[in-house]
Amino acid sequence: MKKVILTGDRPTGPLHLGHYVGSLKNRVQLQNEYDEYIIIADMQALTDNFDNPQKVRDNILQVTLDYLAVGLDPKVTTIFIQSLVPQLAELTMYYMNLVTLARLQRNPTVKTEIKDKEMGAKLTVGFLTYPISQVADITAFKADLVPVGEDQLPMIEQTNEIVQTFNRIYGGDVLKETKALISETPRLIGTDGQSKMGKSLGNAIFLSDSSEVLAQKIKTMYTDPKHLRVEDPGVTEGNPVFEYLTVFDSDQAGLEKLKEQYRHGGLGDVQVKKRLLNVLEEFLAPIRKRREEFATDPAEVMKILKAGTARAEDRASKTLTEVRRAMKLDYFAK
Ligand code: TRP
Repeated sequence: MKKVILTGDRPTGPLHLGHYVGSLKNRVQLQNEYDEYIIIADMQALTDNFDNPQKVRDNILQVTLDYLAVGLDPKVTTIFIQSLVPQLAELTMYYMNLVTLARLQRNPTVKTEIKDKEMGAKLTVGFLTYPISQVADITAFKADLVPVGEDQLPMIEQTNEIVQTFNRIYGGDVLKETKALISETPRLIGTDGQSKMGKSLGNAIFLSDSSEVLAQKIKTMYTDPKHLRVEDPGVTEGNPVFEYLTVFDSDQAGLEKLKEQYRHGGLGDVQVKKRLLNVLEEFLAPIRKRREEFATDPAEVMKILKAGTARAEDRASKTLTEVRRAMKLDYFAK
């Protein structure tokens, strides 16, 4: 039997280069080797977008198009919608008893989000508890591996805690511990030089960006603010132009030489940016093309999701039968 991968995204916006290097690339590479499930986490998206359901709905299609565009193959990978697998909500409810409020409040990723989004007294029960629902997502499929960016590590830790508690209290080995798969580039900096590319931070290059938008974003991209004239020595570290080239440029030897030249002085931003535009255009053009092809037939894309969701529910319902039996909730079972 193949090992299982489960991972996914909140449908709150199009996916960007950070998603690609952090997780999508691994998903595509591993999809034939593993039994792979990709969750479009609409319920989790609603935890901080409950007042904007249209946004979540619209992005289900957008995110799926991004998946198909980068090469996730629906014939081998199961792409599904979280809210249409009710077993996940049920499992969340059972797990809520196994986690203290204090534990949830310590989750560093959630803490950062609460602060960044200035939730304050508006923090909802739904948002604070989304890590529990994420544990349900992972454990319902008995995932061996979860390819994610490093911001998701606290969720994996929470998963294994709940698995241990569940197995200890309800017996046996119904649930399975999991492992994060962190990519070699776990985090990509933003076009503004900020530490993280984020869809709501205005510093992302999206997989769906047109050539024109890409060129514009590169043109206005942050570099070394002290590198004013071509002759000035410049910093390549933390400079998004060089950081992106390091990840996407196939000629790393040539890039090394450019970096040296930039550090010593004598290499202008315009010239490196031109190289980056070529490199990224070459990477994004085929993705863009596939995306456009799938986008001509949204009904077909929804069909893919419907079939994937049915497969996912089938898998999750098997786990729930075991969970209910372990919890002595299988009242009518023979
Ligand atoms: N929290 C993830 C994100 O913000 C999305 C997600 C939901 C997820 N359920 C998951 C990721 C299960 C991995 C596994 O992008």
